[in-house]
Amino acid sequence: MKCNVTRKTQKIDHTELYFSKPSRPVGIIIFGASGNLTRKKLLPSLFKLYQRDLIPDDFFILGVARTQMTDEQFREYVQKSIKQAGNRKFLSDFLKHCYYLSGNYESSETYGEIQNKLKRLERIHGTQGNKIFYLAIPPNVFQAVIYRLSESGLARESKFSSNFARVVIEKPFGKDLESARELERSLANNFSEKQIYRIDHYLGKETVQNIFIFRFANTIFEQVWNNKFIDHVQITVAEDIGVENRAGYFDTTGLLRDMFQNHILQMLAFVAMEPPASFNAERIRDEKVKVLRSIRPFPLNELYRWIVRGQYLSGKVNDYQVPAYTEEPGVSKDSKTETFVAMKLMIDNWRWNGVPFYIRAGKRLPRKISEIAIIFKKVPYSMFPNIPIEELAPNSLIINIQPDEGIALNIQVKHPGARLCLETLSMEFKYENVFSIKALDAYERLLLDCMIGDQTLFIRNDDVIASWELLTPVLRSWEKKSENEKNGKVHPYRAGTWGPKEADWLIEKDGRKWRKL
Ligand code: BG6
Repeated sequence: MKCNVTRKTQKIDHTELYFSKPSRPVGIIIFGASGNLTRKKLLPSLFKLYQRDLIPDDFFILGVARTQMTDEQFREYVQKSIKQAGNRKFLSDFLKHCYYLSGNYESSETYGEIQNKLKRLERIHGTQGNKIFYLAIPPNVFQAVIYRLSESGLARESKFSSNFARVVIEKPFGKDLESARELERSLANNFSEKQIYRIDHYLGKETVQNIFIFRFANTIFEQVWNNKFIDHVQITVAEDIGVENRAGYFDTTGLLRDMFQNHILQMLAFVAMEPPASFNAERIRDEKVKVLRSIRPFPLNELYRWIVRGQYLSGKVNDYQVPAYTEEPGVSKDSKTETFVAMKLMIDNWRWNGVPFYIRAGKRLPRKISEIAIIFKKVPYSMFPNIPIEELAPNSLIINIQPDEGIALNIQVKHPGARLCLETLSMEFKYENVFSIKALDAYERLLLDCMIGDQTLFIRNDDVIASWELLTPVLRSWEKKSENEKNGKVHPYRAGTWGPKEADWLIEKDGRKWRKL
């Protein structure tokens, strides 16, 4: 979250960007260099940063993976990966900074070879021993890589110099409380917390960061941001895509782990946190974790009243016929994995006491949209003739996270004319209409922050544990269906609809309704 303006340099081909170029040279070592994440996100984002002149002049990228490739072949691979990046200006310069090494993640020999290669690359590129290790690898080799990185001394930060060694890790951060604790133990045994950057790409989204600014840089909203004025909050994270080619991962993970443990709880924390004492990574992270710890544990004996699971059947999305989840390639035919979750949760603290948060997220819903809706209380009484209180719509504040980024405040106005008629009007701001610059993509932003050494938008260890403490009992209860059949039931819903009808019941039983999106 910086505001220094980077001067236009010859590499920047558009208006000024409100970011600083990292001042220290760095070598970026990507484990899992031949995988999906590297190809789709990391390489294109690094290239974009390079084009925007937001990578230090002295840098290199070393890809590491099992696939056999030479440096030259890797450069071709990099070139193909960033084909979609549009403008290819400076590509040949960028490629000169890319290298590759193949090896087995578990074998100590690989790390010896990395050591040797790094020595050479550090000399050529003058990176002064600063390193970022990006672990874009499957969870089953996570521990091995962490251990080897530490054992080989590759990720050691020397007490006698200011060189840094940072480790970036991707979710899933474990699959339940126990495995998360084990992962955290192994991270803590091998690195210090200031070396660890746990990525949640939602925190890299401008609109998510803006929740913080919106709340704490304006006095008028903070006054009403509590249970005196807010009736309830709705969070929707809808996707029109299905499981795509990720069945291997998703079918053993499910939507609760995939979206709630991380992205959704992180957004919720931004919405519900108390103002931190200062704009400092640790103070902000302290407040986020307090919110997670204040969420009321779900009553396991009647879980179905609080959480509804669903799985998509075949149907039409955006006019295309799509198969049922269990017919997707790689998904087991009798899979009970949820692709949709609707949840009601309560935050037990002074600010939020009595304000329900209704959250829904799912795949194969009618369209891609993520929004946070703050629904305010109705006026206490209608003084207007012929307008009963039920017809007076409450104010609402809609924070559109994506794709139509912006904020809207819905208010009641008088429709012009002699008769008294009210209408809901929306006061809107859209990013694209206001700001001429295109925001950095989430991965660009987070990679940049990691190079700078700013952990504000990364998740801390206690945050990971707090989210699993909340969700693990739910997962356990779903596993032991026998206690109450209704609890773990996976309700079917047609692809292209807003989830099972039980999700409507979840909110309607409280006299409220999901927003029509
Ligand atoms: C990922 C999940 O973390 O986020 C995916 O694993 C999901 O299942 C994706 O599709 C959604 O991200 P975005 O940025 O497209 O909303």
